[in-house]
Amino acid sequence: MFGSKFLFGAVFSLLGKTATVTYSKSVAPIINTACLGCHSSALASGGYNFSTHAGVKAAVTNGRLMGSINYLTGFSAMPQGYKLISCQLATIKKWVAAGALNN
Ligand code: HEC
Repeated sequence: MFGSKFLFGAVFSLLGKTATVTYSKSVAPIINTACLGCHSSALASGGYNFSTHAGVKAAVTNGRLMGSINYLTGFSAMPQGYKLISCQLATIKKWVAAGALNN
């Protein structure tokens, strides 16, 4: 009885971890590492400051963020010089698809 309850709890908490993409826990750490060097309040390259959720959301809303990190034609490839790894791209894509919330 206790054993199965524990097992279900563990499985659900694992599922929860893979299913939930939040700005604070999933997206901001990627942005902080890969983008803030050039997109901060001190240095807002291209006019983009990604030190806040609002700053990142603005680039989602105007359509430039996804094009640039996916290295699409017509966008400046970001980060410059290397591409984010596929699971980072998938994380950001999932967050954008869910509405790019400040969660
Ligand atoms: C080494 C510096 C550097 C890093 C790191 C960097 N950027 Fe940029 N970014 C720039 C510069 C400079 C511009 C403005 C010139 C241009 O568009 O190429 C720019 C422009 C952009 C634009 C506008 C591009 C367009 O085509 O409209 C977006 C969106 C962007 N960056 C997103 C990001 C994201 C997201 C990251 C992190 C994953 C990132 N950048 C990392 C330097 C950088």
